[in-house]
Amino acid sequence: IINMSALDLQGKRVLIREDLNVPVSNGVVTSDARLRASLPTIKLALEKGAAVMVMSHLGRPTEGEYNSEFSMQPVVDYLEKALDCPVRLAKDYLDGVEANVGEVVVFENVRFNVGEKKNDEALAKKLAALCDVYVMDAFGTAHRAQASTHGVGLYAPVACAGPLLAGELEALGKAMDNPARPLVAIVGGSKVSTKLTVLESLSGVVDQLVVGGGIANTFIAAAGHNVGKSLYEADLIDEAKRLVANAQSRGGDIPVPTDVVVAGEFSPTASATLKPVEQVADEDMIFDIGPDSAEALAEILKNAGTIVWNGPVGVFEFDQFGEGTKRIAQAIADSSAFSIAGGGDTLAAVDKYEIADKVSYISTGGGAFLEFLEGKELPAVAMLESRGE
Ligand code: 3PG
Repeated sequence: IINMSALDLQGKRVLIREDLNVPVSNGVVTSDARLRASLPTIKLALEKGAAVMVMSHLGRPTEGEYNSEFSMQPVVDYLEKALDCPVRLAKDYLDGVEANVGEVVVFENVRFNVGEKKNDEALAKKLAALCDVYVMDAFGTAHRAQASTHGVGLYAPVACAGPLLAGELEALGKAMDNPARPLVAIVGGSKVSTKLTVLESLSGVVDQLVVGGGIANTFIAAAGHNVGKSLYEADLIDEAKRLVANAQSRGGDIPVPTDVVVAGEFSPTASATLKPVEQVADEDMIFDIGPDSAEALAEILKNAGTIVWNGPVGVFEFDQFGEGTKRIAQAIADSSAFSIAGGGDTLAAVDKYEIADKVSYISTGGGAFLEFLEGKELPAVAMLESRGE
């Protein structure tokens, strides 16, 4: 893969695909992690004397129509403050756009374009015609083969990886391809069904797979315990048993909590009760792991060589159900293992428990992060590989 850092960009028209898909509320960006991560790439292109164009999607608008709710304007406002140069939004850019050295032109949401999501060839060629160099830097969207992440790179004169994408691939590769062992993965979240494929592949490679949240409830049920009114998936119990057997056949395990925190309702004011997992009653809902289980997991994390974290182990938005996730966060922060955290909820937990500077690498990917963990080839990366060394 060609790396942008190695290229001479003086006077070149450089089109950078970033993942600037961030949450926006009332016209203001509410979480800027992805924007911050893209800044070094944009600054490097400016320093190299390029005429810089940046494009991204934001949300999932209906294609073919402008919708102010999904406009890139809030991102432009943010970049204007973060960068020391003029930043402007281009609404109509497909038939040509003026970009000058020393300024940044941000294209309006690429998903307003007809053909973006189906990777339309004519659209990809129009984007490619706007630049001398195409930089794919959107790790968070590298699992999508779309016109702005894939097709454009096939037709641009030069296609290369930006520093953010290159850094993500290096860090995730270090964790998954030849990890320092034991390799421990924590996969939380509400449903086994949305993470079944990643659980499946991780159970075949990691030394310990820690499940949390609603996912853990299905494993608790698979171990023969009552989960009361907790969120779980009865139809995936056999699947959960198979995953445990798979992990155990390799000398690993998928431990279930021995104690849990339950409540009778899902609400910020619900009162939390600690119980041994065997004593969960029919009216209980499990919202967190208990302190014994959290301590056992902390011990596993302490001895890990590599830690991969995706998903909280409890409803940490409500403090009374956040102790388990907090303990895990602290254990990761204290561990000398190479650690990676990725996914929206996980990054919110990293922020809440203030461990960002103690995690070895924080990924900007959600779906892309999971697909990488599954060992899937990311289409945008495959495209860059096809374009050169
Ligand atoms: C993400 O947030 O995971 C990426 O920006 C991809 O967004 P998408 O799932 O709408 O393609």
